[in-house]
Amino acid sequence: MKEKLPSVHPSSETKPIVQGALASTWGRVVRRRAFLHGLGAAAAALPTAALFAAEQDPDRDNRPLTRGDAALLRLAAAIELIEADLWQQYNELGGAVDHNDNPNPGNPSYVAALSNLDSDMPQYISDNTDDEISHAAFLNAYLESKGEEPVNLKAFQTLPPSKATGANQNLGRITNLQALNVDTSWYFRYRSTNNPDLGAQFPQLLNIKNQPAIPISDNDTDPNALVPLLQSLPITDPKARRMQAIANTAGLHFAFIEQGGSSLYPILALKATSLEVLRILLSIGGVEIDHFSLWHDKGGNAIAQPLAGPNGLTDPETGLTFPDFNNPVNQHNANLSTSDQAAGSQMFQTNLILPEPVTFLSKDLPPVSIIRPTLARNGGAVTTIQAFIADNLFLGQKDPRFFQTVLGLAAAADEAQRALGS
Ligand SMILES: [Fe+2]
Ligand SMILES: [Fe+2]
Repeated sequence: MKEKLPSVHPSSETKPIVQGALASTWGRVVRRRAFLHGLGAAAAALPTAALFAAEQDPDRDNRPLTRGDAALLRLAAAIELIEADLWQQYNELGGAVDHNDNPNPGNPSYVAALSNLDSDMPQYISDNTDDEISHAAFLNAYLESKGEEPVNLKAFQTLPPSKATGANQNLGRITNLQALNVDTSWYFRYRSTNNPDLGAQFPQLLNIKNQPAIPISDNDTDPNALVPLLQSLPITDPKARRMQAIANTAGLHFAFIEQGGSSLYPILALKATSLEVLRILLSIGGVEIDHFSLWHDKGGNAIAQPLAGPNGLTDPETGLTFPDFNNPVNQHNANLSTSDQAAGSQMFQTNLILPEPVTFLSKDLPPVSIIRPTLARNGGAVTTIQAFIADNLFLGQKDPRFFQTVLGLAAAADEAQRALGS
């Protein structure tokens, strides 16, 4: 008998991913951020109109979605559920607060190591997590409001959680963060004047293969062997160095994930038919770019002084080294194109976190600072899912229906076409 594929639609037993845990989590986030919450005396001075905004945007489009627009939003919802799953793991171990805004003890040693990248890292992790939960919940609710089926990946929350202090032991995961391959070529892409949409290719900055981005267990990393904060660097204790290497991998993985979304949303937007769907894709996509910019900065701190020290920071278990890329000795030009090699230290400078102007559309036009790529063949939906697979993000997903589901959603999104006049 042919086995039934798990629905991307909510079946009676799986529907709770939107209406259950995710929706209730997001409901709490919204409630605690409610406009009137804590406004107090200042509110009294505001005119009524300023206190009570319209509940419905006057420009709402009440027409049904085209098939293509529904496919674009479904793929976006799947990506956001995947993002929410991985960010929730990062938040449990390294975030400042839980979803109820209660202080999150997390894994104290991991929190300290992340804080070496930036003392605000735990708060940023919590906020990024909330953003992804809101993106997934909104997209699914919007699909439902249009009579479309939402995306449900709950059946694939089957991967074991980290055993380390801080990780929720009662929740299966969609994503693996315990043995990642992190593609770091985006680092050169955003420093180069050559555009991947015009064929430019970039090597890896670092070869991060099968590395944990979260602590795996308390045997591997001591949750209380606190990593020294920056004033007491360099880190000499091997256990602390192991934890710092894990946090550094996380820092670069955050940027990898969010630069993917930064390209994916404009690519999806270019296929949208309804202006409202275009507005949704641009509005969420802008926040993905905001995330990328933030993590680009923090990731850069993992490969710079003072954290890298004079000889780089090396994981004592795996040998992975995070060198100081501002030091010319560590600027390896081997696989960069001739013109990128000629750009010199620009290709490595760790505080060069805003995009360098790049050739766009034609070499006859002046270089311009933009997100890249924005062509589907270089960063479309299937390409994005394949990049997640290459990242080992789904390592351990044994059920072929998971890959059929997410790749099917991606293929449908890639096939969507802008249908002007409909
Ligand atoms: Fe998102
Ligand atoms: Fe994101």
